[in-house]
Amino acid sequence: MFKIRRKEVLTPQTKLFVVEAPMIATKVLPGQFVVLRIDERGERIPLTVADFDRDQGTLTLIFQEVGKTTHHLGTLNEGDSILDLVGPLGKPSEIEDFGTVACVGGGIGIAPVYPIARALKQAGNRVISIIGARSKDLLILEKEMTEISDEIYVTTDDGSYGKKAFVTQELERLIKDGYKFDFAIGIGPVPMMKAFAGVTTRYGIKAKVSLNPIMVDGTGMCGVCRVSVGGATRFACVDGPEFDAGEVDYDILTARQRIYCDE
Ligand code: FES
Repeated sequence: MFKIRRKEVLTPQTKLFVVEAPMIATKVLPGQFVVLRIDERGERIPLTVADFDRDQGTLTLIFQEVGKTTHHLGTLNEGDSILDLVGPLGKPSEIEDFGTVACVGGGIGIAPVYPIARALKQAGNRVISIIGARSKDLLILEKEMTEISDEIYVTTDDGSYGKKAFVTQELERLIKDGYKFDFAIGIGPVPMMKAFAGVTTRYGIKAKVSLNPIMVDGTGMCGVCRVSVGGATRFACVDGPEFDAGEVDYDILTARQRIYCDE
């Protein structure tokens, strides 16, 4: 059992849990994820690790309540426990001193971008972050992202906070204004990552996205998380979750994400 040490409501639909998981906390690296199961009858859901504290033996998990299981998860409180937490899973992010990097997070995607941006900063990069959400009340981790970024730009789709724009439009504006990016990471909803891939490919920037397709086992056995990358079938859980942004087939990914919408 994995005890919830702290719970924070970030937005009406977005919750943060700090969970006691010392074994995972000692090993996890930015970009990796865990698969959790609330109880014996619950489905297994993948969640990227938004932060970790090796001394405290804790993981920070941020999730959006979008279906039955995540709604149930959101009803748990401090002191409650999660039955299973398996991880760390997936390949860690490629962290090196690229030079100037763009860290682009849309909506709940800001959560997995945060530890990657922090690691890129620690590796010596100049970190330019662009974060955005549909509206002000859905924006998360602005303070945390500001602390580890050299510059930060905030957008909202409806203009209720920051600039009225999509994060990918802001990225393109910066490029047109003369910013030279040596690397970019973009995480968010599939349409955002597709647009991110378009911009980075257009300007010849090495770029990665982190995919979060439906997963079951998280260990490469079930095939549910398959994605098409560079014309080949890859498993997001073991071959990813990060892939070259320009190589992912986002239309197939969108179709697969919708398979269980009714359920
Ligand atoms: Fe089963 Fe990836 S989740 S193969």
